[in-house]
Amino acid sequence: MENIIIFGATGAIGSAIARQLKADGASLYLAGRNESELSSLASELGADHGICDAMDENSIAHVIEKAKENGPITGLIWAIGSILLKPLGKITGDDFQNTFYLNVTAAGLAIKQAAESLREGKGSVLLFSSVAATQGFTAHGAISAAKAGVEGLAVALATELAPDVRINVIAPSLSQSKMAAPLLSNEMMAKGIAQAHPLRRIGNAQDFAPLSAMLMDNQRSGWITGAVINVDGGRSSLRTKG
Ligand SMILES: NC(=O)c1ccc[n+]([C@@H]2O[C@H](COP(=O)([O-])OP(=O)(O)OC[C@H]3O[C@@H](n4cnc5c(N)ncnc54)[C@H](OP(=O)(O)O)[C@@H]3O)[C@@H](O)[C@H]2O)c1
Repeated sequence: MENIIIFGATGAIGSAIARQLKADGASLYLAGRNESELSSLASELGADHGICDAMDENSIAHVIEKAKENGPITGLIWAIGSILLKPLGKITGDDFQNTFYLNVTAAGLAIKQAAESLREGKGSVLLFSSVAATQGFTAHGAISAAKAGVEGLAVALATELAPDVRINVIAPSLSQSKMAAPLLSNEMMAKGIAQAHPLRRIGNAQDFAPLSAMLMDNQRSGWITGAVINVDGGRSSLRTKG
């Protein structure tokens, strides 16, 4: 029986994955920081849920303990993240530290807390980095550094927890979401960003959900670990035409 915990379940990608996994028949534990959004999603999907602030280690530990009550954890998805865009002149030490903590440290602590149960459940972990982990964009100092850290965390822990636990990363380009909303509210800007992608559009949460569900499933992805998969309209590796 699958027992998958999704951190950031009320985000665009987290909630799309939750709906996909539910449709596939998985048993879910949803973790998020917004009580009303979380309880409404949990009642839609008939899932257990718990409040979790990623900046608080005890709160991460608490929801993992609760998820374990449903049996060994077979999947852990860290769909929490941020986009901090600040030019170098404005960036502070706290910006670097908080961005790193939310995207890397907290994810690492969640995996640590769940590791024994994940081993028992032959579990799969999925993290999200970004196209900006490996490609330079202006004003991305803190978030690029943190998302590169996510990829480093994944390969290190995938090695340490092999062969019992698989850990993979999806690296998105800009996709419709709460965090991307300010960047996409200007139509001209949104069109310009879409055109910078060889596939000529911005992403949406559904671009990630089926692949994420596959990576949770040992039958369909049991020989994939330590991988970073670009889901980015071609932005990281292809040039646009003309
Ligand atoms: N969307 C993009 O363009 C894009 C690009 C590259 C990488 N990514 C990565 O993809 C992943 C999924 O993001 P998304 O696209 O679904 O964006 P989203 O809709 O903004 O979701 C982000 C999630 O992070 C949660 N969160 C932020 N700070 C938190 C905290 N302190 N405690 C608990 N939860 C916290 C948010 O909670 P609330 O729901 O309460 O706000 C939300 O659920 C993230 O790792 C993101 O960095 C996204």
